[in-house]
Amino acid sequence: MSRSKILYQCQSCGHSSPKWLGKCPDCGAWNSFTEEQRVAKLTRQKTAEPVVLSEISASTGVRYSTGIKELDRTLGGGVVMGSVVLIGGDPGIGKSTIILQSFKGLAKLGKILYVSGEESPEQIKIRADRLHIESDEIILLPETSLEGIISMAQKINPRVIVIDSIQTIFSLELPSAPGSVSQIRECATKLMFMAKKHNIPLFIIGHVTKEGAIAGPKVLEHIVDTVLYFEGDKGNPFRILRAVKNRFGSTNEIGVFEMQESGLKEVDNPSELFLSERPENVPGSVVTVSLEGTRPLLVEIQALVTASSFGVPRRTAIGVDYNRINLLVAVLDKRLGLHLGGMDIYVNVVGGLKIDEPAIDMGIIAAIASSFKNKSIDTGIFTFGEAGLSGELRAISQADIRINEAAKLGFKKGIVPLSNSNNNKNQNINIIGVKNVEEAVEMLLF
Ligand code: TYD
Ligand code: MG
Repeated sequence: MSRSKILYQCQSCGHSSPKWLGKCPDCGAWNSFTEEQRVAKLTRQKTAEPVVLSEISASTGVRYSTGIKELDRTLGGGVVMGSVVLIGGDPGIGKSTIILQSFKGLAKLGKILYVSGEESPEQIKIRADRLHIESDEIILLPETSLEGIISMAQKINPRVIVIDSIQTIFSLELPSAPGSVSQIRECATKLMFMAKKHNIPLFIIGHVTKEGAIAGPKVLEHIVDTVLYFEGDKGNPFRILRAVKNRFGSTNEIGVFEMQESGLKEVDNPSELFLSERPENVPGSVVTVSLEGTRPLLVEIQALVTASSFGVPRRTAIGVDYNRINLLVAVLDKRLGLHLGGMDIYVNVVGGLKIDEPAIDMGIIAAIASSFKNKSIDTGIFTFGEAGLSGELRAISQADIRINEAAKLGFKKGIVPLSNSNNNKNQNINIIGVKNVEEAVEMLLF
């Protein structure tokens, strides 16, 4: 018996309900439910054969370079055959650009089928010329129907498929509009089956919008093997590509790029870049070291503390967790006796980077204390460490990698947690261990 019924689905997270709801109980989005028709067509497929693990040849372990080092890094060392990679990000951030640039390396695998539902072949040609991408292996397909794409793929037999973007693709079998949750899920699943069957890599590009008007790539995350997100501010040329899920490599690896006239340029030494415009002898600025995947990154944290002109003081956090700021402000208040209650506090990680590692606690504390006391921190000093609620400074992981990176960039002195300082082997830098936040601030703002 075929079952066909109407259900309501949240366009932001994919939660479904038999009746319309004003607020999604899953993701909390308002007015996000639309009517969709679910056609449950389950056909029985051939039963799979069991296999002995040791008899499987691990040909899937072979990786192919995209020709872009930073992209290979986020993928876990290159793209794996038969893998499905989702590249998500705000519109205009550079998703189409990076994929087009990667064709230089991917064309070595053979034919690339670039399905574009957003741009015409002429537009893509203009962009490719600008990026100096030229290859007979790149085939453009301005098609938006899933059935059309699949039949064309069977004809062309490509070695790589790119879908730009999944929101524009629709299946004729579903009555809902392109971009709706059921369309996105259905199309991605069918495409994934195709990629697995032919053992070719599939790249899916997906837009994320804050309003959730178009179904976000969130619903795809569990279908695909690897999820890369493009981060960055519109006004800032830096772009960060972050792996948030990877079945073939480590997560939280990042790739750093700079958007230029001729496309995205890889940034070999991001620390240098993030510190390049650092002001000297200005209160409220300090350098800390964060570890992104396997790579240490020196970043500048800035804070501005001003007397509040309203009853409730403002707290603004850009690039760091808002609740973490409140917690650290409370520690500063209680343990250092800084009266921040009536102060507006703004904290910013320079360069549009987002960091959620407790190792930068000490950086945030130092920046706030420095701005509050209006005393600058020496530009040759860096600091890191996790702050506890009783003001103790806790050791963090992989301190040696962080210290070496700071030494490489010419830092002379580091204020770090005591147990981290005991293991320091680097002779070129003066590492001072401290037990608590109070001591650290005293050292930094002498
Ligand atoms: P795009 O890759 O089209 O974004 P997405 O596919 O994520 O929507 O990037 C578009 C932006 O990048 C656009 O604002 C212009 C800028 N850009 C450059 O600055 N230089 C370039 O060489 C290219 C191709 C784009
Ligand atoms: Mg695009």
